[in-house]
Amino acid sequence: MNIVLVGATSGIGHSLAENLSRNNKLFIGSRNETKINDMVDNPSFSNILDGGVVDVSEFDSIEDFLDLARNALGKIDAIINCAGSLLLRPPHMLKEDDILSVYKTNVFSCLGLLKYGFKHLKDEGGSFLFFSSAASKVGLKNHEVISGAKGSVSSIALSAASTYSNYNIRVNAIAPGLVDTPMTSKITSSKMSLEYSRKMHGLNRIGKPENFVPIVESLLNEKSNWITGQTIFVDGGLSNIK
Ligand SMILES: NC(=O)c1ccc[n+]([C@@H]2O[C@H](COP(=O)([O-])OP(=O)(O)OC[C@H]3O[C@@H](n4cnc5c(N)ncnc54)[C@H](OP(=O)(O)O)[C@@H]3O)[C@@H](O)[C@H]2O)c1
Repeated sequence: MNIVLVGATSGIGHSLAENLSRNNKLFIGSRNETKINDMVDNPSFSNILDGGVVDVSEFDSIEDFLDLARNALGKIDAIINCAGSLLLRPPHMLKEDDILSVYKTNVFSCLGLLKYGFKHLKDEGGSFLFFSSAASKVGLKNHEVISGAKGSVSSIALSAASTYSNYNIRVNAIAPGLVDTPMTSKITSSKMSLEYSRKMHGLNRIGKPENFVPIVESLLNEKSNWITGQTIFVDGGLSNIK
């Protein structure tokens, strides 16, 4: 399978790049050219054909990036969006620009990938896979902006799954709980915050980037071709058990 992976240079995306590149051809992207080149040149990622700089909060950047990816891969079967950002502050402490930035990175990115990805997938079908959050389902303090943005990601997946179903394009989302990645280092580096967060997860532990590999492989697999419009919670029970 030929996969475009955005947000491949850190955390969950990096783990997906490492694992998916064993059996698929990948084109990777993020805003960090050095990290992309390091991964492309790394012999242990042999099936990462190439990569490109992309800022998924900017539509023009997405369009150019996907054209590059199509040229490198020849054909695109799946587009995965692991880009995201985290802002944990109550609305009364936020500036308008902070909110816009979170929505551009987490929400506009998915809409942009659908807008410009459609032409690459429409002839033979394929998959879009987005990252939502457990915070879209459970009320967590100070999560208003990110839970609103990630709730939008799940809603976008639902509507797009319907819109593009006639083209055999499936659209799904994965909703993580707290995962130990660079994005969450402020939480995980504090013993107190880490303990507090750990206890909120029914399984009493936070997630690791590699926890997402099996579900991503499964959702992209052709044998899963009857799964669309779903948000799958991979969250240690954060959103549904006590
Ligand atoms: N970790 C968690 O606890 C958690 C919980 C719920 C949901 N999620 C979601 O899961 C996904 C992966 O999270 P993660 O923890 O692996 O994050 P991460 O470690 O911060 O990695 C994010 C990746 O996205 C890239 N990125 C960020 N903004 C971008 C932009 N505007 N354009 C292009 N690339 C961009 C980053 O590279 P550059 O910065 O170099 O561009 C990096 O490669 C995100 O959507 C996140 O919101 C994570």
